[in-house]
Amino acid sequence: MKNIKVLWTIIVILLILSGFLINKFVSGKVAKSDDGRISVLLSKDERNLVLAEMRAFVVSLQGVSQAITARDMEKVADLAEKAGMAAEANTPGSLLQKIPLGMKQLGFDTRKKFDEIAETARHSKEPVKARKQLDALMKNCIACHMTYRLPEIIE
Ligand code: HEC
Repeated sequence: MKNIKVLWTIIVILLILSGFLINKFVSGKVAKSDDGRISVLLSKDERNLVLAEMRAFVVSLQGVSQAITARDMEKVADLAEKAGMAAEANTPGSLLQKIPLGMKQLGFDTRKKFDEIAETARHSKEPVKARKQLDALMKNCIACHMTYRLPEIIE
């Protein structure tokens, strides 16, 4: 009888621990923000890296959009591919751990949408289709900015 009690105690402790770990993975390193969004708490270097990626996103958007208008599908493919999943290769795992699951999903989905534009540009080569994909992609920029922010933390 005593052994069973000990066993149950161990099971409950393990469940609580694993729940805590899963919760950490899903929620990331976050705090409430007074503007209603979720603050993602990154180190100075990590924040600078993400914001530099963001500025590169604007450059990619502009380039892809202009190339679609010019119907230069080879250029569309090259620029979109550079902004796709390939660009994620250098993201440190320690940074990904701090980013909440919902933000990670939006970020990866945005990269994948750039890859889909590259695919369209290389294969069906239809500018209108690529334009529609770019329009949909920009909704990810909007959704993420409405939900998350990166406060500057003085270290
Ligand atoms: C996965 C979430 C996410 C996605 C997707 C995303 N952003 Fe951001 N972006 C952020 C966050 C968070 C900030 C910081 C905002 C803040 O602190 O108010 C930011 C900031 C920026 C900034 C400011 C950069 C600076 O130097 O301060 C620009 C520009 C930007 N994003 C452009 C884009 C564009 C364009 C897209 C779409 C192609 C995009 N972002 C997609 C999360 C995202």
